[in-house]
Amino acid sequence: MSIKQDFPIFTTHPDLIYLDSTATSQKPAIVIDGVADYLRSSYANIHRWSYDISEVSEKLYEDSKKIVAKHIGAESWREVIYTWNSTYALNLLSQSIWRTGLLKKWDTVLVSVVEHHANVVPWLILKEDYGINVEFIGVDDNFDLDYNDFRDKLTDKVKLVSLAHVSNTTGQIFDIANVNSLLLARYGRKQKPFLVVDASQSVPHFEVNVQNLGCDALFFTGHKVFADSWIWVLWAKEELLTDLKPIFSGGGAIWEVKQKSFTHSTKLPDKFEPGTPNLSWAVSILRAFEYIESIWGYQKLEEIEQELVEYALKSFSKISDLKLIGSHDGRNRVWVFTFVVPWVHSFDISDYLADNNICVRAGQHCAEPFMEYVWQMHTCRMSLHIYNTKQDIDRFFEVLKNAITELK
Ligand SMILES: Cc1ncc(COP(=O)(O)O)c(C=O)c1O
Repeated sequence: MSIKQDFPIFTTHPDLIYLDSTATSQKPAIVIDGVADYLRSSYANIHRWSYDISEVSEKLYEDSKKIVAKHIGAESWREVIYTWNSTYALNLLSQSIWRTGLLKKWDTVLVSVVEHHANVVPWLILKEDYGINVEFIGVDDNFDLDYNDFRDKLTDKVKLVSLAHVSNTTGQIFDIANVNSLLLARYGRKQKPFLVVDASQSVPHFEVNVQNLGCDALFFTGHKVFADSWIWVLWAKEELLTDLKPIFSGGGAIWEVKQKSFTHSTKLPDKFEPGTPNLSWAVSILRAFEYIESIWGYQKLEEIEQELVEYALKSFSKISDLKLIGSHDGRNRVWVFTFVVPWVHSFDISDYLADNNICVRAGQHCAEPFMEYVWQMHTCRMSLHIYNTKQDIDRFFEVLKNAITELK
């Protein structure tokens, strides 16, 4: 049976060619039905329960964290924190790091030029408000991290390095474990800068293991990995979470509140989750990972991805009028393809494709520093997922070629 059949959107729209999964993934029936079923049968607030449906709700909430912890290699589900979206979560992390005194004025945070705004703006806020430095590491000709530039920037001022695991524009995979080894070699275990990883584009594609990466914190967004919108995962090492003073607090995240003072909870993850959590979204991420397990797990997902990457790259290389902003080597990249056609506006191409029922995205993809770096004002991006087929890719190229001929 085709994977596509697991995703009801393609039954509702049989002719739809959805090539925008980097922005958000479509949802399998198990997620849609799982959330509906939860809302129908056992929805209730969690914590402090004494009745059945609240107990069921609490268990589902914990189970969702356990499955996330399992799939990112976390030591405990208590290290898994849910928030609303990446920008919110990284702001929570960056501001809490500042509040705890782990970053100080004149300290340097290193990011790369390909970062999504979610991993740029929170650090720029600390720069604007408190005077830290934010420096950008370049990429090489193959769109990999420029390791010479990286080494040059490793001064004694560097206290935190925050990198995308996979770029949402080039699809290039950064070797985070290697970055961690370089940091260890340069600074030693005690002085090593914090390593934060934006895994928003890696968790939807391959098995990520925080222990192997050697990172201190990692975040990703559930809606790109088949779950509902607004469920977002922030993982950090228990000792870091224990040290951090959260910038938000309130019900559920405190021990006691008096008129003049309050005491923070030290319990994880409650300390970082004040207020009512996003319950149905938690169920959606539980069902999303169950879906991945039910098909064949990540290993099979990677196999399909590899095949479609090679297939798409071959077709891209046949269009001489087109410039791919990403590597032509399929080995170290995922199925995200950003491109420009000289003299044709990217929005005209995406509109032309949309008129033919093909969904791609045009613009700067929330990566303005990178667009500036590669001298592009706007680009088109097509991206795949396991519900896409070689026929989808063929149809995309057929219409794209017509678009180029007609619009040039
Ligand atoms: C690499 C990367 N980081 C962060 C984000 C932001 O995720 P969200 O839109 O869920 O906040 C995205 C979304 O495109 C992304 O691709």
